[in-house]
This record gives sequence, C-alpha cells and structure tokens, in this order.
Amino acid sequence: MEGVTDAPMRALLTEKGSFLFCVTEFLRVTDQTPPVSVFHRHIPELGNKSLTSSGTPVLVQLLGGNAQRLAESAFRSVSLGAKGIDLNFGCPAPTVNRHDGGATLLKFPKRLFEIVSEVRKAVPKEIPVSAKLRLGWSDPEDIFENVEAVARAGASWVTIHARTRMQGYAKPVFWNHIRRVRELNFLPVVANGDIWNFQDFLKCYETTGCEHYMIGRGAVGNPHLATSISRFLQLKTHSPQQGKAPDSPSDWRPFIERFVTLSQLHTDKPEYIVRRIKQWVKLAMMERPLPWFEELKRTQTLEECLQTFAV
Ligand SMILES: Cc1cc2nc3c(=O)[nH]c(=O)nc-3n(C[C@H](O)[C@H](O)[C@H](O)COP(=O)(O)O)c2cc1C
Repeated sequence: MEGVTDAPMRALLTEKGSFLFCVTEFLRVTDQTPPVSVFHRHIPELGNKSLTSSGTPVLVQLLGGNAQRLAESAFRSVSLGAKGIDLNFGCPAPTVNRHDGGATLLKFPKRLFEIVSEVRKAVPKEIPVSAKLRLGWSDPEDIFENVEAVARAGASWVTIHARTRMQGYAKPVFWNHIRRVRELNFLPVVANGDIWNFQDFLKCYETTGCEHYMIGRGAVGNPHLATSISRFLQLKTHSPQQGKAPDSPSDWRPFIERFVTLSQLHTDKPEYIVRRIKQWVKLAMMERPLPWFEELKRTQTLEECLQTFAV
C-alpha cells in the first residue's frame, strides 16, 4: 500500500512469518523504464535477495499502461533479484488514472491482455506474474472479462479487491463476485477487501471459498491478524489462537518501538517517523476506537511521540 507498507513496515509485519509473500508499494512506470537506483530506493529488499529481513519474499508491484516499458521494468526488477511481479490495475487515484495507470485499464480488457502478455514474456517462467484488479471501473460484472483476459495472457494468479473504481473505498465489498470468479477456474484467485479482523476473514472465507487472501489495512491496524489467519488456513480449524488487536498505548508500544528501529535503518528524519506512526494508528482507528490518538496527534518530536506509548 503506497505510503503505508514501505520497507520498515514490510519488515515489521512479516517478522512472525505469517505471510507467504508481500508486495511493494506500486512503482509507477511511465514512458521511461525507471533507472536501477530507483528500484533500489523503492525496494531496499533487492539488496537482500528480495526478502524481508525475516525471509519473506517481496514481489515488485509495477503500475502503468505502457506494455513495453512495463515489460522492461519487470525484466529489470527480476535482474535485480525480484521474486515476482505484480501488476497494479486497481489504483483509484485520479492523477494515476488520468496518466493511464491503475484502475483505468479495467475499461480495456485487450490492454490488460497485452500488458500481462508482454510482462510474462519478459521474465523467466519460474517468476510469477500476477495481476491486482478491482471488479471494474463502474460495473462489477466487468471482472469476468478482465480476469479471462489476464488468465489467457498467462497471469500466475489474480488478486481481486472486490469493489469498483467508482466505489473508491465505500461499502459494500462484493466478496460474492470473487467466489463467482473462482468457480470459473481460470486461474488461482486471491481474495481482498475489508478483512479488518478475524470475523471478517471468516465471512470472506465462507463467501469466497478462496485458498489465499491479501490483507491490506487490517494487517497494518492489527499486526496479529495475519498470524490468526495463517494458522486458520493451515489448520482449517475454527478455533485459531486469535491475537488480540493492540488497543492501549502499552499494547502498541512493542510494535512502535520496533518500527522506529526499523525505520531508522532507512531514514534519518525523525519527523517522518512521527508522521508514519500517527498515520498507522489512524488507520487502525478505522476498525476500532483508540481515544488516546488525540494525545498522539498533538506530539511533534519523536521523543514526545514515544512518550505517548510509555504509559
Ligand atoms: C493508503 C492506501 C494505499 C494503497 N496502495 C496500494 C498499492 O500501492 N498497490 C495496491 O495494489 N493496492 C494499494 N492499495 C489497495 C489495497 O492493496 C487493498 O486492495 C485495499 O485497501 C482493500 O483491501 P484492505 O481492506 O485489506 O485494505 C492501497 C490502499 C490504501 C488505503
């Protein structure tokens, strides 16, 4: 997630080994293939065989509408060590969409086919090439034709965020469409959207019947969530050990301290780390109230910010 799951956050969230893999924030590809330095800055894990510090594979996500440049960028990513390529056809940001990137491509199944085909051809067959789709631009029924296009082009799997672009992040999330796509057996389907806690996951599991799930905001808001889900998926039991979502400042403290340590490996700007911590807690508040955020919000220096968690 752009601006959220950067390298320190990926390192933190994968430390328990609950994720099969993670995906970078999108790297935008326009009419130029980004230089090597940009890949290394965007994906520091390339310097570690494309693994997070605890050994979870990192897939590089590319975003754009130029099939040739995307194919070159995919080739460059893999030459630098990327473990896989994910293509973003879901981003709803107007500036991105105006520049022929993200969800705007959902209007053109032929272009999805062309992009996935070119990227597939550009990288060795053992490297997965996946596509991240929303259900459509405005019509959720477009998902069927779009998935058929990316499957025919050779995508390894498709991750479906079960909303249209026009919905943005508004409810409802149409998990039922994911089940219908899965039942067509075109290719493996990863379910995504609004899994905020373990109960949501169970509902999504029962509705979609998928084997794999992509957890975005919920995984950041509750760093224990992926562990509960991965235990369930391996054991297929309804009584997983549920990691309680951190609530009080002291529940959050170990995560925050670890995040600061990991962030300091990448930045010498404490004010940036403070911003990220506030953003993180705010995101968690989309699922549950954290009234002490008001106090956190007013802090300015990293020391003041960490004081909030010292209680
Ligand atoms: C701030 C933000 C940034 C995002 N950036 C990306 C991105 O770079 N690539 C991507 O595929 N999806 C991105 N997404 C979408 C998420 O991956 C996911 O599809 C969406 O949030 C729904 O899943 P969730 O409810 O589990 O978060 C972003 C979402 C948010 C809220």
